[in-house]
Formats: sequence, C-alpha cells, structure tokens
Amino acid sequence: MNRITESAEKLFDYRGRHVFVAGGSTGINFGIAEAFAKCGADVGLISRKMDHVDAAVDALRKHGGEVFGTVADVRDAAAVEAALEASHKEFGDIDVLVSGAAGNFFATATGMSTNAFKAVVDIDLIGSFNVLRLAHRFLRRPGASVINVSAPQSVNPTSHQAHVCAAKAGVDMLTRVLAIEWGAEGLRVNSIMPGPIEDTEGLERIAPTAEAKSHMLSVIPMGRFGTKQDVANMALTLSSELCAFVTGSVIPVDGGRYLSGGAGYLQNMEHG
Ligand code: COA
Repeated sequence: MNRITESAEKLFDYRGRHVFVAGGSTGINFGIAEAFAKCGADVGLISRKMDHVDAAVDALRKHGGEVFGTVADVRDAAAVEAALEASHKEFGDIDVLVSGAAGNFFATATGMSTNAFKAVVDIDLIGSFNVLRLAHRFLRRPGASVINVSAPQSVNPTSHQAHVCAAKAGVDMLTRVLAIEWGAEGLRVNSIMPGPIEDTEGLERIAPTAEAKSHMLSVIPMGRFGTKQDVANMALTLSSELCAFVTGSVIPVDGGRYLSGGAGYLQNMEHG
C-alpha cells in the first residue's frame, strides 16, 4: 500500500513549475506544498504568521527547489495581491494554485456571535474568493490547475459547524462556477475534500480527546485517519496531465467518511 506513496516523487515531475499555496505553512496545505517541492516545483506560499512562514520556507528549501514565502492574510486582498505579484516575479505564471486557508472552532449556531460566524466565512469563503480572483491574471494559460481545499462539512450538515458547513459549501460552489467561467481559457478548477487527517490542527480542533477520535474513526469506512500524503497525492495527480479533462469536481480524499453523513454525529462529543 505504501508503494505509490513512496514513489510519488518518481511518478510526477513538477520541475520548473510554479506552485502557489495559500495557507501553505502548516497542516494539509503544507503537506501539499512539500509534495510539489519534492517533485521539483518552485513554491510560493502565504500564511498569517511570520514564524510559520519562516519554518515552512526553510523546510521546503531542503528539497532543492526555489521557495518564496511571505505573510499575507487571505482576508486582506491587497496583501494577497502583493504576494501573488512577488511570487509571479520570482517564478513566472502559476501552474498550480492551491487555496486552503481555513479556520474552525466548535460552537452551536446559537453559541456563536455573528462576528464568530463571519470570522470563518471570511477566512474560508471570502479568503478563497480573494485568492482565486486575484490569482486569475497570473495563471498559466492553457494548463493551470486550481485546487480549493474543501471539507466533509461542505456536504454533511454537522452540528457545531454551521459556519464551516456554510463556508465550505460556498467554496465548492465557487469551484463549480469558476470551472465554467475559466474553462475556455484552459484553466481547470477542482476541490479536494480531505476527511479527518492525522497530525493536523483541524483534527485536534474537531476531535481533541481520545474518545472523540475513536468516535470519528467509527464513521470512516476505511477505519483510519488520512495522512497529509494521501491528500498531497491527489493534488499531484489532479494537477497532472492525467487529469486534463477533470474540472468542476469535488473529490473526497477521506476513506469514505462523507458517505457516513454528519447530522448530529458530533452533537454529544466533549470538546476542549
Ligand atoms: N466559540 C464561539 N465563538 C468563538 C470561538 C469559539 N470556540 N472562538 C472564537 N470565537 C469568536 C470570538 O469570540 C469572536 O467573536 P466576538 O467578536 O463576537 O467575540 C470571533 O469568533 C472572532 O474571533 P477572533 O479570535 O477575533 O478571530 P480570528 O480571526 O483571530 O480567528 C478563528 C479566527 C476564530 C477561526 C480562529 O479559530 C482561528 O484563527 N483559527 C485558525 C486556525 C484554525 O482554525 N485551523 C484549523 C483549520 S481547519
């Protein structure tokens, strides 16, 4: 089973390609950035925190390619645009754009303020819109692959996740609309929908206790949490010529987790 994982770098050659990852300094998004770096890509990334950006840039440079990283909050359109311009100046047109910045916390709809709901919608949905809209002029035509990082909450109504459910459903609809609007330019737009992925802040936020993790495992048909490499493998494949006719798709990488539904399954879980 590890055969493909171990040979991902041998299967895909992204040397000389410009991969730009929004939210790329940690977690799933860093995993995607690192997978492309291992395949030879030049990587541009933005994140909210300078120390995270510095650590990510250092780690990615070890794989040999060029790396550009800077602080930019996806809610700040001017900062995003400046970062895209700088990365474009370094590496040219963007071959792969990954929009994955996200926020989350656990609260019922009545347990969060309007501002709390808006905080997640602003990061996940408006932030994605900013990244996609502003990156459009820098994308390689034809051929660029645009990937939004979604979540099972996009299709599964999940208690304590009204903000994330609404935001990620919006992100996936953005994927479909832009696939239509940008298709004639030779640009493909897809969503990857990771299920629960081990060693991520996201998993710790939604399942912070052993009991919560065990509960979550019980709704994953494959019986394990995903790895960052599982998600990165899909990004590598989706951005390759193998998927040249795939656009407007929302692709779960979740061991079948989304098939188990979401209504109320987290209702009674304890959260830290
Ligand atoms: N329950 C209810 N409301 C909460 C909350 C919780 N657990 N955590 C934050 N909020 C509210 C705050 O009280 C505030 O509302 P208020 O102004 O009415 O008091 C609002 O959310 C915004 O909080 P703030 O901390 O100012 O926003 P931020 O932009 O700094 O942080 C979050 C954004 C809230 C999404 C934060 O969780 C975050 O930064 N997450 C990033 C990391 C992350 O979530 N990673 C996992 C990705 S899957």
